Amino acid sequence: SGDDTPYPYEVIKESADFLLSRTKLRPKIGVICGSGLGALAEQLEDRDIFPYDTIPNFPVSTVAGHAGRMVIGTLDGVAVMCMQGRFHSYEGYPLWKCAMPVRVMKLMGVDQLLVTNAAGGINRQFNIGDIMIIKDHINMQGFAGDSPLRGRNDERYGPRFPAMNNAYDRTLRQKTLELVKELGLQDVVREGVYVMLGGPTYETVAELNLLRVVGVDAVGMSTVPEVVVARHCGMRVFAFSLITNMCIIEYETEAKASHTEVIETATMRQKDLQKLARLIIKIMSED
Ligand code: 6GU
Repeated sequence: SGDDTPYPYEVIKESADFLLSRTKLRPKIGVICGSGLGALAEQLEDRDIFPYDTIPNFPVSTVAGHAGRMVIGTLDGVAVMCMQGRFHSYEGYPLWKCAMPVRVMKLMGVDQLLVTNAAGGINRQFNIGDIMIIKDHINMQGFAGDSPLRGRNDERYGPRFPAMNNAYDRTLRQKTLELVKELGLQDVVREGVYVMLGGPTYETVAELNLLRVVGVDAVGMSTVPEVVVARHCGMRVFAFSLITNMCIIEYETEAKASHTEVIETATMRQKDLQKLARLIIKIMSED
């Protein structure tokens, strides 16, 4: 099948069955590790590790700093499967391929998904290093006529026209906000609206002004396709962004967004990201 045609159910099933046949664990929680959270996969116990190029039908990730493997293990006694590295639209993958691992997780029995990313802060109240719990998204590529669900709908996953309100589970967000104080993270955890742009360019000043006036708090290059596919197949979703840099919404400056700053902030904040991810996984596992 070409880039226009999402893999048929049987192809996804083959990937899922491959993984199920090579691990004793039966995770019901999936994690997509963005920049800064990759080390969470190193914390898992009893790990089974599958580089993407060993899993049938899996795309192969190309970005430096993204390991590119599936790690299945236990965290505080709970079975989880972690994507260490994800697939981005700017690498050349169609949106359905970026999100294809979510369907593999679904067919393995995963019903809750934690998605993380690095993002630029647009909301001026934010600081570098803040963690933004995503309460909603704007699917810009959807506005432009592209979607990971474009093409024939397979009812085994979900309906042709899935709802996207309450995509980011309210109960999970409320419980997390109640408990962040115990982690000492109450001053850095925020809530906000995330937008995905295709990248790989960072935004112009005019583009950032556009995003600001329509209510965007943070901008990134991922997450939305995975969340759309996860919600389509009925998964419960929680997502957060690490604000790795503040967007430069002014003309009179030599400053510019840089991947180096993104990686530096992500590295600096990885302990707190792990603490928060552990908390969310605990909350997910308790109901
Ligand atoms: Cl400033 N923009 C986008 N699109 N993605 C980012 C970012 C900015 N910072 C981290 N990821």
